Amino acid sequence: MITYRTSAKFDSQASVILISKDQVKSKKFNFFNKSLKDQISVLNQSNQFTGEDGQLFPVMIKKQVNLLVGIGAKKDMSLTALRISVRKALLSPTLSRVKDIEVIVHDKDDEVAKAVIESILIGTYAWKKYVTKDKSDKSVENSSKKYTLAAAGKSDFKDSETICAGVNLARDLINDNADTVTSDLLEKTIRQLVKGKKNISIELLNKKEMKAKKLGLHLAVNQGSNKEPKLIIVKYSGAAKKGNYTAFIGKGITYDTGGINLKPSGHIETMRMDMSGAAAVIGTLKNTIALNLKKNILFVIAVAENAIGSFAYKPGDVIRGYSGKTVEIGNTDAEGRLVLADAIAYVVKNYKPARLIDIATLTGACVVALGHDYTGLMTNDDKFSRHLVRSSNDTDDRVWRLPIYPELKKSVSSKIADIRNLGYPKGAAGTVTAAEFLHQFTDGTTWAHLDIAGTAFEEGQGRLYFGHGATGAGVRLVTNYLQNN
Ligand code: BES
Ligand code: ZN
Ligand code: ZN
Repeated sequence: MITYRTSAKFDSQASVILISKDQVKSKKFNFFNKSLKDQISVLNQSNQFTGEDGQLFPVMIKKQVNLLVGIGAKKDMSLTALRISVRKALLSPTLSRVKDIEVIVHDKDDEVAKAVIESILIGTYAWKKYVTKDKSDKSVENSSKKYTLAAAGKSDFKDSETICAGVNLARDLINDNADTVTSDLLEKTIRQLVKGKKNISIELLNKKEMKAKKLGLHLAVNQGSNKEPKLIIVKYSGAAKKGNYTAFIGKGITYDTGGINLKPSGHIETMRMDMSGAAAVIGTLKNTIALNLKKNILFVIAVAENAIGSFAYKPGDVIRGYSGKTVEIGNTDAEGRLVLADAIAYVVKNYKPARLIDIATLTGACVVALGHDYTGLMTNDDKFSRHLVRSSNDTDDRVWRLPIYPELKKSVSSKIADIRNLGYPKGAAGTVTAAEFLHQFTDGTTWAHLDIAGTAFEEGQGRLYFGHGATGAGVRLVTNYLQNN
């Protein structure tokens, strides 16, 4: 929780003060109290604090720590760099034992204040559920710190805070164990979010209903698992008029072993994150409800576990899906496109959405092509692409477009079935051929595909302003898209 005020009071244990190079040069510190002004002018005279981007400088005044944070020259300031610098300040050892922090933004630009909110809520997020704290460790958990934001801006910053909560819900679901975050837990999470909401209804397909309705591909993927497969469709009717639904469909593989085409060591360990698409859908659903969006939206998650064992589906199988098309299984590790094909076909046929976005940790090839900072975007509609790219620019939840074109059809052709789940030629543009596979189940619907294989989860030090683990990729992007379109 963040408390907001329009001017600084310096009444917390610590303050974090953003200072640009321009401010240091022009010596404009009129919002500071006398002792802080004196201190800064000493620093200035000795040239110790320049306001360089990322520079941190603690100044003690009586019992209060004032951490100065350089944010560089205003003219070449990027909001990404700002988020990174503020995160660095908030996580610096100087503040580790501090319980309450006032963050002071002397910039009337609302975008700056919003970026700071993201530094606080997204930047300091850490997955610590299973880390036992040492008794001698006196540091304060980031999640239990109290923040006050002093910013002159006009907009309602609460919305930014709301959206960050959706991002972090997705991250919690992704980071936890696969045997905790099962299809049952995802269903429960959704039911809690929509409880008591009159404009929301749910259609749930479990194994029994899937058998009756012939979602053969989804069932095949889950065949080796002891858990229930689920297709969960949440119908959110927020618009005054009927129709014009946007469907948002997430891949929810709670664990991807690869199946009989088993993943090797080095590639399997993080595969609890293979439900990041479903998590992004749930985070966006939370935001949609909290922001009370006046839009009609279908939130859909296709949940299964790609397990290995004697019941598992097999390479070389031919399986008929909900659409009626048969699929040759070239590789049991290309399971995401199978569950999504059934989900897309089911939603298109039964709900006829005006447009459809699917989101999935679909291909390792996307990590090769774009790395960890850009989500792959593929779509059959240029206007849709422009809108999503605009949301990407607005939110810093980044996408980069890859092509979809008619000649791709043959890349997923099969000699023994209608289509094959493995692209051809082998190893060529795996992200695009996977998207083309999905494309063939959209039945002409305006469609966009987001491949978040690289952006959803980060091992090691974390990238940009995200720590280790899940990032919540797609939540800010699609929330912004739904707000504006
Ligand atoms: N879940 C993986 C994709 C993935 C890889 C996500 C790395 C995150 C990080 C997906 O189900 C998969 O295994 N795809 C295969 C497809 C191949 C067999 C055509 C891949 O990318 O190797
Ligand atoms: Zn796989
Ligand atoms: Zn997968």
